[in-house]
Order: sequence, then structure tokens, then C-alpha cells
Amino acid sequence: MTGRIYLSPPDVGPLEESYVLRAIRSGWVAPLGPEVEAFEREVAERVGAKHALALNSGTSALHLALLVLGAGPGSVVVAPTMTFAATANAAVYTGAEPVFVDCDPATGNMDVSALAEMLDMLTRAGEKVAAVLVADMFGTCADYDELLPVCEAAGAPVVEDAAQALGATYRGRPAATFGRLNALSFNGNKIITTSGGGMLLSDDEALLARCRHLATQAREPVPHYEHVDVGYNYRLSNLLAALGRAQLHRLDGMMRRRRLLRERYSKLFSGVPGVRLLGDGDEGSNCWLTSIVVDPERTGWSAAELGAHLAARDIETRHVWKPMHRQPVFAGCRAVVTGASDRLFAQGLTLPSGSALDDDRLARVVGAVEQFLDAR
Ligand SMILES: Cc1ncc(COP(=O)(O)O)c(C=O)c1O
Repeated sequence: MTGRIYLSPPDVGPLEESYVLRAIRSGWVAPLGPEVEAFEREVAERVGAKHALALNSGTSALHLALLVLGAGPGSVVVAPTMTFAATANAAVYTGAEPVFVDCDPATGNMDVSALAEMLDMLTRAGEKVAAVLVADMFGTCADYDELLPVCEAAGAPVVEDAAQALGATYRGRPAATFGRLNALSFNGNKIITTSGGGMLLSDDEALLARCRHLATQAREPVPHYEHVDVGYNYRLSNLLAALGRAQLHRLDGMMRRRRLLRERYSKLFSGVPGVRLLGDGDEGSNCWLTSIVVDPERTGWSAAELGAHLAARDIETRHVWKPMHRQPVFAGCRAVVTGASDRLFAQGLTLPSGSALDDDRLARVVGAVEQFLDAR
């Protein structure tokens, strides 16, 4: 069997087609409409949040969340260094200063001791911490029982970046319910997609209403165009919301498939000393991406070598995210660094994890890895 195998491509089929077609035929093609309202309601119900606001990206969701919490020039936003750049960029859009905190090597999520050290330093210096952005990396929730009291003690509101974590739970509680505002992404590589999109969830009605206003060009509720605030064009279109509703119906099945892939990879590497799975053993993970961490001193080979072997067989893999404190764009930003994210970047490899990966393709990936391991 040939054809490129991708890391986490969209998993879209007849159900999505029927939902989008129905939305087109309804005549609600223009930006907002009943699909948007239904999608908001259904995601809120699924997650157990009181209010939801559908947006055109997860990045927009993070930006609005920070704005309504008062992030801006003269304030600081604490962010994980192990994340996708969008998390930190959202802070910069507001004019706030992003500062970074290293990760727990077992999961890639925020290291609570490093966070406490950072908050202590900022508090002592009398700096205004507008928010702590916490990302649930690879579909595993951060350690909220430890983390939330630390933020509360510092008087810093939490924004949960659950872009990667829809469907995940932490000690039985769903992702995207731990912050004052919580962001999801429906980007093409996520567990469900609207091709591009995002959502804000919150139990705070007033905060979310303020986000809705800003996301809709900050139009005042009068017959003419009246603007008191600078607004944004951040809403999700009705057609894309229809796609999202179909995907949401399939979420549990898609998570099951991703978990099956993770279990297969876990078995594949279980007898290889020096290889571990990131976030392994988390029953609440949505298994969005499965990454291995390779200690080359024990294996005699590196993550990059396995990646190159798979690439030569048209199988896509990827480095774990390069930490934000190593990104040229964030050079000079303050950070509490333990070395954990640097090691994950050097030693991590993300394997094909998408729910559209069928048995034949999975067998191709497994076969290619076995061939690599046998040759060592
Ligand atoms: C952790 C994290 N935050 C934010 C985003 C941004 O979401 P979007 O691409 O929908 O803007 C992503 C993914 O793209 C992400 O992985």
C-alpha cells in the first residue's frame, strides 16, 4: 500500500457532508446562524460549561480571553514554554509581556514548582499578572489540583488553553472547565475540526458576553454602526459550525481510535529500553497525539533517526514543539527553565496519531518501525 501517511489529518466523511449540505440548503450561509448557536450549545453541554462562544480560531479565543481579563501593556501573562506559538502570541497581541515556565518531563504540561517560582518572583516585584495561560498538551490535562491553588494564592486568573484537549478529562472533570475562560481549537489537525475554528467556554456569563461583543466587531446594539470599543472579526461561520456539529457527534469514536493507536505504539515500544510514551497511562487523555521520548544513550539511536527512516517511507512524524524560550521571536523573554522542555524537544518524536489512520496504514507504520528496530 502506498500514499503518504500524515500525522493528524482531518477525519471527515458522509456525516459531515450531509450536515454542511443541509446548512447550505437552509440558506444560512452568511456568517452567523442556527448552526453556530446549536454548535455552541452542544459543545457547552458536552464539556459541562455554562456558556460558549464559537470563533474562527483557537488563537482568537485566547486573544479575547486575555483581553477581557485585562491583559495589556504593563501587565504580564505567564505561559508554558512547551506549547505551540499561538499560546504565547495571544499574550503579545494584547501588549502584555509573555513570560515562560518549563514543563513536567512526564507529560509536557506546566511544571507546577516552576510556575510557583515564577509567580513568586513576579509578585515580589509587584508586577501585574493578568493571567496564567495553561495548555493541556497532547490531549493530557495539566495537573490542576496542584496548579489552581498556586494561581489562586497569587491572585492570577487561569485561562485554560484546551486547544488540543477536547474530550479529555482530569480526575473525571472535562478539559476546558478549569480556567475562568477556556479555549478550544477546531483547526484541521485537532481531534475534531471545522477546517478552522475555535471556541471559548466559561461559566462567567458577563465575561463571555464581553468576548462575544468584541468578536463581533464590537457593534453597539443600535440601528446604525456604532463602536465604543475596537472590535474583531472573530466569529465562526454557520457552514463551519455545521461541520463541527457532525464532528462532535463522532468525537467519542474518534477518541477511541486515537487511543487504540496509542496502545499499539505502547506495545510496539514496550520492550525497547530507553523509549517511553509521553503522558502514558493517563486514562483521561483524549490521545490527540502520541509522542515517544528516546534516550539515545540507552537506545543507541535517536528520535531524529527514526523520524528520517519513517520519512523515507512517506510516513510523517514531527518533533515535539520547540520551547518558546528557544524561539528567536521570544528571545529575551523571562523564563523559569529546568531543562525538561529542551530535552523533550531534543528527544521527542510525534507519531501518526489521526483517527483516520486505518488498519492497513497503521500496519505500514508499525512495520516500518519494526524494520528500524530490527536493524539496530
Ligand atoms: C496549544 C495550542 N494553542 C493554541 C492553538 C491555536 O489554535 P488555532 O490553530 O485554532 O488558532 C493550537 C493549535 O493550533 C494549539 O495546539
